[in-house]
Amino acid sequence: MNTTERTDAAHESAPLAAITLAAGLGTRMRSARAKVLHELAGEPMIAASLRPLVGLGADPLIVVVGHQADQVQAAVRGALGGVSLRFALQSSQRGTGHAALCGMALLPEDFSGDVLITYGDMPRLRAQTVASFVRAHRQSGAALSFISVELREAGAYGRVVRDADGKVAAIVEAKDASPSQRNIREINTGVYAAPAAFLRGALGAIRSENAQGEYYLTDLVAIARGRGLAVEAFKAEQISEFAGINSREELAEVNAEMRMAINRRLMASGVTLIDPATAYIGEQVEIGADTIIGPNVQIYGRSKIGAGVRIDGTAWLRDVTIGDRSHLKIGIRAEQCRVGEDCELGPFAHLREGTDLEGRNRIGNFVETKKARIGRGTKASHLSYLGDAKIGRETNVGCGVITVNYDGYEKHRTEIGDRCMVGCDTQLIAPVKVGNDVYIASGTTVLREIPDGALAMSHHPQREKAGWTANWHKRHQKGGGAAES
Ligand code: UD1
Ligand code: CA
Repeated sequence: MNTTERTDAAHESAPLAAITLAAGLGTRMRSARAKVLHELAGEPMIAASLRPLVGLGADPLIVVVGHQADQVQAAVRGALGGVSLRFALQSSQRGTGHAALCGMALLPEDFSGDVLITYGDMPRLRAQTVASFVRAHRQSGAALSFISVELREAGAYGRVVRDADGKVAAIVEAKDASPSQRNIREINTGVYAAPAAFLRGALGAIRSENAQGEYYLTDLVAIARGRGLAVEAFKAEQISEFAGINSREELAEVNAEMRMAINRRLMASGVTLIDPATAYIGEQVEIGADTIIGPNVQIYGRSKIGAGVRIDGTAWLRDVTIGDRSHLKIGIRAEQCRVGEDCELGPFAHLREGTDLEGRNRIGNFVETKKARIGRGTKASHLSYLGDAKIGRETNVGCGVITVNYDGYEKHRTEIGDRCMVGCDTQLIAPVKVGNDVYIASGTTVLREIPDGALAMSHHPQREKAGWTANWHKRHQKGGGAAES
């Protein structure tokens, strides 16, 4: 099969629909969580399994959900936002054949094109491969086509049984296979294409008399042959693309393969990974050239890292945009943030959702930001909480400044203007507004609006009591010092 052609099969002739089966629990995972929600390279495997079909423009794209249906739907929508999907419910999991039937129920009755059927546990499938498969299927005119591969160890996969003429006769599941069938090395990958008309007629003919008492989608092969219809198996070369994940061990293996593939692609595009073995980067992440990524860095979601960025190490980033030449020192956690160009973050900073740094900012150690828009050149270098805040440009936020945004019921906003000096240990009791060019003395509790250009302070007058310390020691330990034993 030629896998290098463009992914335009869907638009060539008849319409193309797709059904992805993702209702199973995945018993072999030994998990309370639905298998397709387990993550690879930072995203649920169902997302990566669906992406090639989105790339093909399959319409409608139907996902069959069942086990933890709500979570699976949310995960799919979260990862593939904007794509139009339909969800079919398979309330009890009676096998892949039954699941496909549930999916078909959502296909419009007048749909007359081809239907692709795939499984939700195949995260390495590529759009180009599926596109050339669909094209080959259409050229063959077969009633049913599927992709097969030759494996050295066929394991638990369904075996492709051929007749004396070498034509595909059946797919036999490993659990139902005779000893000689078990030796067959050609297996079913789980990617099928068929005209909707064939599926409408044949899915209902599947029976559950087999080792697992399930309705096997794979029985469609024998059903088609029994009706004298042509079935084609298209052999693919790239076996790693078709790994169907069933266990935690397979999850870890495929995860490692995926990670290395992503890392190789990034390095080829000009990104330095100081230690690729500890760089955990999602498939959708974009990183500019000459960016240097240190050890133990995780970057997931739709993150965009600019060019010439330095991430020293130990960072967890999801859905962030980082501008060119910014420097993330050790220990950054950031999510749903935008960081402009030439910023300096950390060490040990926590940028929560809605943080927006305009550029040339410094967010130093033990600073937490949330829903904070911070203007160009503004710095918060040490030990601060800045939440629900808008801060102007070239303002200096001193050590220990806190926006007091929460009254126990609601969150309130703090606004600070341009070119301010916010003294150390200032608390801003929100809602509150500070003008431009304001100087707030250290230790001030800001309770009300400060006009432009003003000095604000809430100092208590300082008092001294001479000789107080010696008396204090005397009261506690006759004649001794303060040191503990
Ligand atoms: C299936 C194929 C096997 C093939 C292998 C490729 C069948 C009977 N067997 O086996 O020939 O070699 O995939 O990886 O199809 N699902 C549902 N509802 C159900 C059962 C399953 O939606 O009632 C979904 C699962 O969530 C999963 C997919 O279908 O995403 C495949 O099911 P799985 O149990 O993993 O099938 P395999 O045993 O791997
Ligand atoms: Ca599987």
